[in-house]
Amino acid sequence: MRIRCLLCVFYFITSINVGSFCKIVSLNKKATLVNTIETKNCFVSYVLVNGKRYLIKQKKAENKQIAVVRDALAAFLAKSLNIAHKVDIISFKKKFPGKICAYWPATLHTIAPGETVRKQPNSIYSTLRLRQLWALAKNFDEMGLTRDMIRQMTWHKQLPIIMAMDLMFGNSDRHCGNLCYDPVSDKFCAIDMDDTFNKDLCIVACKKFEIMMQDPHDSFTIQEIHALMQLRKTIKYIINEHNAIDVVKKLYYFAHKAGFVSGNAIYTPSISKKLQLYESMIMQSWKSAHKLIAILNKIIDPFIKGYVECQEL
Ligand SMILES: Nc1ncnc2c1ncn2[C@@H]1O[C@H](COP(=O)(O)OP(=O)(O)O)[C@@H](O)[C@H]1O
Ligand SMILES: [Mg+2]
Repeated sequence: MRIRCLLCVFYFITSINVGSFCKIVSLNKKATLVNTIETKNCFVSYVLVNGKRYLIKQKKAENKQIAVVRDALAAFLAKSLNIAHKVDIISFKKKFPGKICAYWPATLHTIAPGETVRKQPNSIYSTLRLRQLWALAKNFDEMGLTRDMIRQMTWHKQLPIIMAMDLMFGNSDRHCGNLCYDPVSDKFCAIDMDDTFNKDLCIVACKKFEIMMQDPHDSFTIQEIHALMQLRKTIKYIINEHNAIDVVKKLYYFAHKAGFVSGNAIYTPSISKKLQLYESMIMQSWKSAHKLIAILNKIIDPFIKGYVECQEL
């Protein structure tokens, strides 16, 4: 399959019609491949559509192709928060410049303004450590949300929004290479949300907060409480905008769009199992999010009450 992929590299380096599959680019415009780079796990191609740059991403490994569904679903849910790139799916059947392997699906992304934080070593944000570890965590302390992340959320008003998304979507890959920052507009943009919907980070955060609340030597600062308020507000917003059943429907909508449906060669028993896992994790995370809001209420509300009383003295 790898050899077939490489043989396909030059196959689509021609302009073709974009067609009607894509909502982010208008119909019947020409797409032209600019260049392709290879990361550890992906082919990333830059294309021009009607003078505007987009990015095409394809996973290199055959068993990772379902990632397109997770990436597209996360970006869809993030859309109204205005803090992530937009992602659409290119079906496994569709020819498109920059789609390296013709028989696998791909994703089309809007380009995030600025650069990844990792590529800005002089920025304070390059020291952000917001990755809520899961499989890579050595112990429960390292897993999911940590006390340091709550400190770091105070650094910028958009960071609690990104943390809330990662909690809800079960994203354990928010390292500095997956976070863009534009110093000109002072705005972040979340990218690469394909390690998602396969775990419940909300329930981990609940347990972490319970432990933090029991520590008599530690208390939250007013800045941290403000960050937690923003976190809570964003979680509430996501739940209100998208109920779990609709999110699951959208999961299957994107799976269908990619071509992961019975009868197609790319729809294997393993894919079917993964989709079922994502479905159950979405249901579980949305439920845990309510629990998380209740815990945040317990932290935030008494603090604010006490703070206001103090100010009135
Ligand atoms: N929407 C985007 N806007 C700008 N750059 C992007 C975007 N998506 C990906 N990139 C660039 O491509 C790189 C690889 O993409 P990413 O989605 O992180 O895939 P992976 O980490 O799996 O290789 C990123 O580190 C970033 O430099
Ligand atoms: Mg990445």
